[in-house]
Amino acid sequence: MPKITVDGKTIDAKDKQMVLQACLDAGIELPHYCYHPGLSIPASCRICLVEVEGIPKLVPSCQTPVRDGMVVHTQSPKAIANQKQVMEYLLVNHPLDCPVCDQAGECYLQDYSYEYGRSESRLEEPKHKKPKKDVGKHVVLYNDRCIMCTRCVRFTREISGGSELYIDGRGHKEEIDIFPGRPLDNKLSCNVVDLCPVGALLDKDFLFKQRVWFLKRVPSVSPVDAGGENIWLEYNEGRIYRIKPRYNPDVNAWWISDDTRHSYHIVHDENRLKQAMKLQYGTQVPVAYDTAVSEAIAGLQKLKAESGEGSLYAMLSPMMACEEAWLLIQAIRSIDPKAVLVLGPVPSTGEDEVFYNSRTKQETFRIKAEKVPNANGVRRVMQMAGGPTATFDEFTAGEAAHLKALKGGWIVGGYHSQWLPKTLPALFKRGFKVVQDILPSAISESADILLPSATWAEKDGTWENHQNRLQAFVAAITPADGTRREGDVYYAMLDRKGQYHAPSVRQEMGSPFAEVTIPSEDAEEPAFEFVEL
Ligand code: SF4
Ligand code: FES
Repeated sequence: MPKITVDGKTIDAKDKQMVLQACLDAGIELPHYCYHPGLSIPASCRICLVEVEGIPKLVPSCQTPVRDGMVVHTQSPKAIANQKQVMEYLLVNHPLDCPVCDQAGECYLQDYSYEYGRSESRLEEPKHKKPKKDVGKHVVLYNDRCIMCTRCVRFTREISGGSELYIDGRGHKEEIDIFPGRPLDNKLSCNVVDLCPVGALLDKDFLFKQRVWFLKRVPSVSPVDAGGENIWLEYNEGRIYRIKPRYNPDVNAWWISDDTRHSYHIVHDENRLKQAMKLQYGTQVPVAYDTAVSEAIAGLQKLKAESGEGSLYAMLSPMMACEEAWLLIQAIRSIDPKAVLVLGPVPSTGEDEVFYNSRTKQETFRIKAEKVPNANGVRRVMQMAGGPTATFDEFTAGEAAHLKALKGGWIVGGYHSQWLPKTLPALFKRGFKVVQDILPSAISESADILLPSATWAEKDGTWENHQNRLQAFVAAITPADGTRREGDVYYAMLDRKGQYHAPSVRQEMGSPFAEVTIPSEDAEEPAFEFVEL
C-alpha cells in the first residue's frame, strides 16, 4: 500500500489511486469539479492542481496516480494561486443568481468561491449571457451557470449510453446542448442533475419547491422495482420533496432511475385512501379506524368458527415490509392456524432495461423488470412460516382442494399502480374480505372492511432485492391522516403493547433478519472507491 505525504501529513493510499481520491479518503479537502469517481477523468477544470516534489509544474491531482513516497503540496503559494485564478475564470460569466438558484446551499461553485475565490470581480465588461434550455422531459439547463466540467456529457456517454448531451462551440461560446430532435430522455436522465456541481442542470420536479437547507433526510430503498436502489428520502414538515441516490457499490453505485427518483409522488397522491370503511347493506360507509379493525377481527373469527380451520387466507403483497408480512402471518394464524398464505401479483415488464457505456459496450446499469420491491422477501417469510400456501395463479384458479374451502380473508395491496388483473378473479368476489391498501381499486371498492395503509416512506421495514440482499428503510414522515401502518394494525390484532417497531420484529424473526442494520442517517457521501472504466 503506497504512502504519500500531503502538506506534511503521511497518508495511506490504495494502488492505482489518484492523488485527489487519496486525499479525499484521508479527509483532506481538495477542490475539484470535473472529477467524479464513477466517470472517466478528463482533468479539464484544472482547479485540483497541486505541487508534487520533483515535478517542475503543477499537476492535476485527479489524474495523477499515487507513488510510494510522493510528497504533495496542496497549499503552496503556486497551488493556491492556481485555485484563485481558476475560480476567477469560472466566475467571469457566471450570473450572480444564487438567491434564486435551486443549487444554492449545495453548490460547489458557492463553496469554492467562498473558500478559494476573490471577494470581488475584476470584470468590467457585461457578462456573456446564454439562454435557458429545456433539454429533456425531466431536466432543464441554465446554460450561463455551467462551468463546462463535462460530467453530464460523460454520464450520457459512459453510463446511460445515449450520448444525448454534447459540447457545442468553442471558447467563451462553448455550451452544453442536445442534438436537434434528440432530447435527454432516458430512464437515468436525472442523474446529470446530481452530477452537475453547480446549478446548471436542474430537475423540473424539484425546481423552486424548497430551499435545500430546510431538507432533512433518511436512508431508504427504491419502491419501484426489485433492484433495491439505495436512496435518501429528503423531506421537510411532513412532506417529501425529493429523492437522491445513496451510494452503494454493490447495488446502484451513485445512480438511480428516474422512476425511483419521482416515486415519492405516491405519498402525496390526492387519490390516497384515507377513510376506513365497512360494507353495510351493500354499500361502503365510513367507520372509525379502531372499529374497522375490531370488526375485521370479529368477521374473520366468525368465519373460522362457522367453517373450521383452513377457511381463511392472507394475501401478502410484495410491497409489504418483511416484518409486516411476518406479523400478518402471526395475526391471521392466531385466528385460523391453517390459514392459507398467498403471495399477491408480482407485476413484471418482461425484460430488464439495461444500459451500456457507448464506447466500451460494458453494462453500466440495470432497471429490473420486476416492478415490486419485495417479492423475494415475502416469499422468504412465507417459507419461514410454513403451512398451506398458494401462488397468485393457483389462488385465482381456485381449483386445489384447500383453496375451494376458503371462505374469506385478508388482502394487502400497497402497489403504486393498478395491480389487479383486468377481470376480478372469482375468489375475490367470494366471502368476507378485509383489504389494506393505499389507492382505490376494484378490490378496495368491494371490501367488507377497508383499512387505508401507509406508503413505504411513512414506515420502517426491510425489503429483499433481486440479489437477495436484505436492506432496511426508515420512515421519513408520519402516516397521512386517516391511514395506519400495516404493522400497527397487526400489533392490535395480536394484542401487543406499543407501536409497530421494525427492529424488534426483526429480532423475533431471527436470522437473517436479526442481522439487518439501519444505515446511518448522518452518513456523509462515503469515501469513493476508484472505478476502473
Ligand atoms: S451542465 Fe453542469 S455537469 Fe454539465 S458541464 Fe455544465 S457544469 Fe458540468
Ligand atoms: S478535478 Fe482535476 S482537473 Fe478537474
